[in-house]
Order: sequence, then structure tokens, then C-alpha cells
Amino acid sequence: MNSREVMLREIGLTPIWRARGVPGAVGDSTATKIAASDADIAVTIAEPAVTAVATPAAVPETPSAELPVDGAPGQLAHHDRAATIANMSWDELTASIAKCTACKLCKTRTNTVPGVGDRSPLWMVIGEAPGEQEDKRGEPFVGKAGQLLDAMLAAVGKKRGDGVYIANVIKCRPPGNRNPEPDEIAACEPYLRRQIALAQPKLLLAAGKFSAQTLLNREDTVGAMRASGGNYESIPVVVTYHPSYLLRTPTEKAKAWDDLMKACTLVP
Ligand code: URA
Repeated sequence: MNSREVMLREIGLTPIWRARGVPGAVGDSTATKIAASDADIAVTIAEPAVTAVATPAAVPETPSAELPVDGAPGQLAHHDRAATIANMSWDELTASIAKCTACKLCKTRTNTVPGVGDRSPLWMVIGEAPGEQEDKRGEPFVGKAGQLLDAMLAAVGKKRGDGVYIANVIKCRPPGNRNPEPDEIAACEPYLRRQIALAQPKLLLAAGKFSAQTLLNREDTVGAMRASGGNYESIPVVVTYHPSYLLRTPTEKAKAWDDLMKACTLVP
């Protein structure tokens, strides 16, 4: 078994069913079964880990924001904070995120999780929020969902750090992995916006509802947003299921594979 077959087996997508006339399509009832090794995507597994942008944990009990939010005496107004972030370099951004106290998540995080990977990527993957492992390590997608994401990327010949940057909508873990709340997403939005502006990816892969809703500025289901896609500041957005959802619902993996194929067609 070659490395690609191993990878596809890993993400639960072997044997591949490729639709006639649609290279790479999976799950079509008119499909022709092919051997995984027929495909031409070379992958390498067990690559060395990419350097994470881990950040220090120190957070004051009482938030004293470097770039605070609206309302408190002497603090910058929200639009000033956003404008300041909009001019930051990568290093300034990382440092600012590390000190951020703009929302309540600063009180419970261990590390901020700014992002990791190629800072001039073709693809930028945007997840939801750090989980327990990510909070411990300061790197996005390092737990089980991250292993699946890496396997999915590898199955199409991509990997974090080489043409791919990975970030989340919010940079701090919500306690107990609850959903991000609207004020938390809003407080973190200037950071995500600046990351995308600095990275200038050719494609955004939105993993899950919160990522897709944030990037497309729409309150819709993942299914509807997968179907329509869209753009963020002229960058095409391909919406797919969150790897955590795919771990719980493996039958949807074929659809995620379709999404990856779509992304590869748009930006190989
Ligand atoms: N889920 C996410 O959305 N992001 C991570 O970094 C980890 C799990």
C-alpha cells in the first residue's frame, strides 16, 4: 500500500469511488471504482511538525488590555483597536494576541492559539476555536480533529506549513469546548481579518459553521454554505465540515472529500 492509500484509509475514504468524467469525485452512484494508487497525488506521511507560534500564558486576573474594547474609561474605542490591528506585522499580531484581554476567554485560557504554517500560503484553513490540546500547546488543530485535518490535507498533497496556513476564528479556548459566543467572535475578528490580509491566501477553506458564517458573513447552515460557497474580500471560500463533526459522523467524509476536490480545482 502506498502512502496515499494509507492516508485515504486513515480518513476513511478507501476504496475511492471516482465519478465518470469528474476527476476525484467521491460518493457518486454512477461512480467507477478505481484503485487508490491510480491517482496522481503524492503524499508523504510522518513529516516533521511545523513550528508552532506558541504564546506565553500570562494573563492578569483583572484584564488590562493592551488593545482594549469599547466602554472602559481611558480605553481605545473598538474601531481604533481594529484599525491598530489592521496595521500590525505578523510578529506584532502574535504578540498582541498573546496579551489580548478583549473578551472573557482570556481568564480561562492557558495559551493563545494564533495560527501556524506558511505565512504566504495558497490555502488558509480556518477552524473554529482551540480545544484542550491546542490550548495546552498554543498550536491549532493538534488533537484528534487536527490529525484528521492533516490527513485530509495530505490526501490532496498538502500539509500545514507548506503552502497552507491554519488559524481559527477565535484564538482562545472556550471553556469545556463550548461554542464560541458572538461577542468572542466579534472581539477576535480583527485578528482573523489581519491574518488573512497578511497571508493573502488564494483560497480559504472554512471548516465548520462558525468559520463559514464568519467568513461569509451569513447565518446559514453548513450545508447551504457548502453548496453556495462565496468570497471573503475577493478570496474564494470553500466551505466544508469541521473535522470534529467528521469524526462523529464519518458518513459525511465523502462530502468533505468533494469539498477538497473543489478547492483543488479552484487553487491546486
Ligand atoms: N477545532 C478547531 O476548530 N480548531 C482547533 O484548533 C482545534 C479543534
